[in-house]
Amino acid sequence: MAVPVWMDVDTGIDDAVAVMLAHTLKEIEILGISAVCGNTSLKNSFQNTRAMNRLCNSAYPVYAGAEKPLFRKPVHAAYVHGENGLGDVEVKLPEDETIRTEVAWDALYACAKEHEGELRLIATAPLTNIAIAFAKYPDLPGMLNTILIMGGATTEGNTTPCAEFNIYADPEAAQAVFLCGAKIVLCPLDVTEKVYLLEEELEELKSFGNEAGRFVHDSLQKPWAFHKKKGHPGIQMHDSCPVLYLVHPELFKAEEAGVYVETKGSVTAGKTVTDLYSDKQFEKKNALVVLDADSKECIRLIKEAVKSLP
Ligand code: BDR
Ligand code: CA
Repeated sequence: MAVPVWMDVDTGIDDAVAVMLAHTLKEIEILGISAVCGNTSLKNSFQNTRAMNRLCNSAYPVYAGAEKPLFRKPVHAAYVHGENGLGDVEVKLPEDETIRTEVAWDALYACAKEHEGELRLIATAPLTNIAIAFAKYPDLPGMLNTILIMGGATTEGNTTPCAEFNIYADPEAAQAVFLCGAKIVLCPLDVTEKVYLLEEELEELKSFGNEAGRFVHDSLQKPWAFHKKKGHPGIQMHDSCPVLYLVHPELFKAEEAGVYVETKGSVTAGKTVTDLYSDKQFEKKNALVVLDADSKECIRLIKEAVKSLP
């Protein structure tokens, strides 16, 4: 039987791929998707996420959430995701969609209540929506089965020397989520940077001859230029990792650790401080930290998903 899933995204090219992937996996039933400010503005991420319904020929309810981090000014990543969040590729919305006006945190809570103990929350964005949901509904963490997060780095960041984008964008929200008491699976850069598409695989996506393949090929041109300039061997598929972990944990290596977020440091804000390599003396192991993956198989599954779409 498929497990019930809620996704929280800042679509975002790799969020788009993660939604497509989750949509195609028969082990997952997406019950709702919430959009937040992050890679791009809330307006863009809400619209881009709804556009995924057209590409996937699906009708998932999509809800808008926070348009800015809890206490900080919004940071976006147009240098990777383009001005519109999808590599500046134009996307169309479904013709006959129902636009949801309920706010993200209320919709998530209602869904968690209905599926108490079963709902898996996959968060591939700054954790603002989730922190607001937990502040408004203190019983929500206890209702969730697992929170799977793309975020953080045990070593170097990708936005500052210390911090990864999703955590850097809203460290206070991230800290609230890490301390919430729910079961957390964290996919930091340690693993997500290992799961990358090669340049020749971009061409393969185009050769599938479907709209989804063309969309992923076209939208990934900008991130590929970015990654290439940085000396990376391919385009990192960060946000697909928690989706794949949920369905195929056997493809990953993970370790329990204490994870806390630096919220005060002038140069270290957004750092996910883990006790994996230290004296391991954090009092509580509050997350399962994913550190390695069978990257080839992960990429094969991602390509297969894109190929199977309209
Ligand atoms: C994360 O930030 C965004 O650029 C990606 O969508 C991913 O969620 C990687 O640091
Ligand atoms: Ca994202």
